[in-house]
Amino acid sequence: MTLKDKNLYYVGGVVRDEMLGTPSFDIDFCYEGNAIEFAKNLNILKENPDFGTVRVLYNGQEIDIASTREETYPKAGHLPVVKNIGCSLKNDLKRRDFTINAMAKNTVSGEIIDYFGGMEDIRLKKLKVLHSNSFIDDPTRILRALKFSVRFGFELDDETKKLQDKYLENINYDMSYHRLKKELKETFNLNNEEAYKRFVEQGIYKLLDNNLPTITTSIEQLISKYNPITPWIVYLGLFDLSKLELSVEEKKIIESIPTQKPKTEFEIYKMFENIPLESILLYALSVDYNIACHYLDNLKSTRVKLNGEDLKKLGIPNGKIYKEIFNYLLEKRIKNQSLSKSDEINLVKEKYGIL
Ligand code: CTP
Repeated sequence: MTLKDKNLYYVGGVVRDEMLGTPSFDIDFCYEGNAIEFAKNLNILKENPDFGTVRVLYNGQEIDIASTREETYPKAGHLPVVKNIGCSLKNDLKRRDFTINAMAKNTVSGEIIDYFGGMEDIRLKKLKVLHSNSFIDDPTRILRALKFSVRFGFELDDETKKLQDKYLENINYDMSYHRLKKELKETFNLNNEEAYKRFVEQGIYKLLDNNLPTITTSIEQLISKYNPITPWIVYLGLFDLSKLELSVEEKKIIESIPTQKPKTEFEIYKMFENIPLESILLYALSVDYNIACHYLDNLKSTRVKLNGEDLKKLGIPNGKIYKEIFNYLLEKRIKNQSLSKSDEINLVKEKYGIL
């Protein structure tokens, strides 16, 4: 891909990643001036004049180009308002989150534009905000810092850490939780264990919840043993997630965590039978570890050997009673896993007086 112009720059993550020698997820372009004007002679797919952005098809690839712009945050924590489209590159870079993300590379000369010491901070492995209001304007940046520290092993520089602490001590809960959730998931999906450790140690959990749930066992051990599809929610499900926009599946996980402590194995089986694995793991962490693990290790795979056909062959007409019989057999099998199919047949015959 060789889209070049002396006013066109690679910007943000792609420049950072090139310096770090890691592949980039996406390539952002920034045009110093009006990107839509610049794209007039190209194959424009979509343009958004309000934001000064344009998508073009170039050499078979879809490329997004943003005009240089400034941003203000009339409502702290919410989406910024775009102003001064076509401003200087320096002013565009100034609105960004961390020095390592505020560099640009000219597409013609290859010159690296680094007004804020991004290169040095990459060398020092430091995450540094560009101004003291950065987290107040956009608290998502606290999670972005977490994401970059998990991904690259970077730490917050001292001043930035102080600003983060200050924000977390006095949070304005009126913010865009949509973006927060996106960053949260991305971060935990990189490395749940590392993300959780930093999330707790640095008090970042306060973005969601004032309280730290008491967990007496290792979440990581549970995750690696039982392999849930959505591990991040096992890490975070005991925090108050009500501010996040949870999907139907995620909501189901949280709402399905049982609270009772059943006495019999059959009751344990029934309690967990139809709920997601993630909910069972959250039960293990918050209610009773032994009951949950006993179910997963010893009871979960219990299956009655007879099926509907077998009951029909025994002359039992299809109906509600089938469920009752299967439950009866399940209870028997949970007590004695070595029952054979003919044992089950005998149990049914005995119970229902079939000769
Ligand atoms: N940015 C910002 N504040 C945010 C989000 C983004 O200043 N809350 C700026 C940063 O300069 C960032 C750029 O917008 O580099 C692009 O954002 P995004 O694609 O989300 O981040 P990347 O840095 O490219 O990170 P990733 O590698 O995770 O895509």
